[in-house]
Order: sequence, then structure tokens, then C-alpha cells
Amino acid sequence: MKVLVIGGGNMGLTYSEGMAESPLLNRRKLMIHDLSAETIARLNENPEFNVFEKLEDCLPQADIVFVAVKPYHCEDLFKKMKPMINNQQIFVSLMAGVKIDFIKEALGASKVIRTMPNLPAKVGRGVTSFTESEAVSRVELLMVRNLLDTTGESIHVDSEAFIDKSTGISGSGPAYVFYFMNSMLEAAKKMGFSDNDSRVLVSTTFEGAVKLFNESNLTPQTWMDRVASKGGTTQAALDSMDDNNIKELIKEAAYAAFDRAVELGEESNQ
Ligand SMILES: NC(=O)c1ccc[n+]([C@@H]2O[C@H](COP(=O)([O-])OP(=O)(O)OC[C@H]3O[C@@H](n4cnc5c(N)ncnc54)[C@H](OP(=O)(O)O)[C@@H]3O)[C@@H](O)[C@H]2O)c1
Repeated sequence: MKVLVIGGGNMGLTYSEGMAESPLLNRRKLMIHDLSAETIARLNENPEFNVFEKLEDCLPQADIVFVAVKPYHCEDLFKKMKPMINNQQIFVSLMAGVKIDFIKEALGASKVIRTMPNLPAKVGRGVTSFTESEAVSRVELLMVRNLLDTTGESIHVDSEAFIDKSTGISGSGPAYVFYFMNSMLEAAKKMGFSDNDSRVLVSTTFEGAVKLFNESNLTPQTWMDRVASKGGTTQAALDSMDDNNIKELIKEAAYAAFDRAVELGEESNQ
């Protein structure tokens, strides 16, 4: 199978690095197309990539095409792509907010898959939500899922509304975790720990808590109950968070990201 990635920036490169290892490529090199001379030179350093400066040299021969340009570049790109595509090709969008109907219309294509990637894909621990247009078969969906899974895990969702909802949870989510980490780092430094010790204390605590969670069937609440004893130190911290309504504020933040994803989608598909 021949896979092409259009746009070798942050996300395009991250997914390309994962997918280049996929057995589905049958040892064919992953094709990448970008316009920037600087990006092309950088991509050419990776022997697993076949880098193309011209769309006409790679697009017609691709079976699956990943689109990883910024949403505001896609209209021009789709105009260029339209005369070169065929109806068997599958188009997978990594672009935030751009709707399946818009892509189908702009490309004149029927097989379109829309995804919501997230940043930990960079280290093989991402989670990608995806949904598809009617014309995509189960087998084709499975092939694309196998490619997405080279960057971590994926979840199939039934509608595009859940792609916007994924933005509020997993797409923007890494930043919420960094926000929490940042607050704990600031507290550690204020208490007098060195930068390095603060980093070890905070990152190991996050890593350890996630590992405990993943290696059991227990809920976060059960783990909190296990750590906190009545009248103890952890309970003092949890009470302080409850008094300040932190839980509701975090939920509100996730909904703010979801609402913004819907808004951006409406703007970019007008
Ligand atoms: N970064 C994230 O965490 C994240 C998360 C979720 C979704 N996404 C989505 O991923 C997509 C890519 O984002 P990114 O951060 O990877 O952007 P990026 O780093 O700017 O990469 C886009 C690349 O595409 C190139 N490009 C632009 N127009 C092109 C064209 N017509 N043909 C071929 N290449 C073209 C750009 O070149 P120039 O630099 O010369 O323009 C750039 O190298 C976006 O749609 C975004 O919504 C990103």
C-alpha cells in the first residue's frame, strides 16, 4: 500500500515517523509532500521517507493520503489536488475543525476520514479519535486505524460531534495536565526544592499515578480514598481543592475547548 502525507510539519512528521514503521507499507517508503524548502531538506535526512516537491509526482499513485496542513491552507491545497485524485483513494484529515462534507465537496472525493490527533503521538503515546464518510468500507477503516495506531492508540467515534468533544478531552488535554504540573512545580520551588528536584518530584508523581491507574480497574476516586486518610495531609489538599471548586472548573475548561472547537469548525467551513 502507498501512503502519502501532505504537510511535513509538526503533526505530519509525527504521524509519518510512526507510519513509516508500519508493515502495511510492505517496505515501501512513506511518501511526503511539502512546499517549504527548509522542511523538505529536513525530511530528506530520514532514509525511510520518499520526499516529493511536486504534488503531481506523488498524489496520483497514493492509496491513502493524510492531509496535515494548517486548516487555512486546505482550500488552496484541495483546488490543486482535485484534478489529480481518483475515487478509490482514501483521504485522512488531521486538520482541526475541517468537516468531512467540506473536504468531500472541495476535493470531489467520497472516502474521507476525519481525525483528532494529540501531541503525545510524538512519543508513540498519542490517542487519535476518528470517524468516516459513508463510502469508507470497514476494511479500509481498519487499515487506516492500523496506521493511526503506530502513534499510540485510537478510538473510533460515530459522529463528527465526538471529534469536537475529543478536542475538549484528548486534543487539548495534554495542556491541562501541563497546567497542573506547572502549578505543582511552582509549589515545589516555592517550598525550596531545586529546579531539578522539583522536576523529578512532579514528573515521577504524575507518571506513577497514571501507571497505578492503568494497571488496575480502580477509579481515580478509589485511589484518592486509598491515599487520603481522615484528618491527614492528602485530605487537607483534597479539601482545599473541593473548597475551591477545582473539579467543576476543570470540567468547565474541557467544555470551553469543546465549544471553541465547534465555533472554529463553523468558521472554517463557511
Ligand atoms: N500541533 C498540534 O498539536 C495539533 C493537534 C491537533 C491537530 N493539529 C492539526 O494538524 C495540522 C498540522 O498542524 P502542524 O502544527 O503540524 O502545522 P505545521 O507545523 O505548520 O505543518 C504544516 C506543514 O504543511 C506545509 N504546507 C502548507 N501548505 C502546503 C501545501 N499546499 N502543500 C504541502 N505542504 C503545505 C507547511 O509549510 P509552510 O510552513 O511553508 O507553510 C508546513 O510544513 C493542522 O491542521 C492542525 O489543525 C495539530
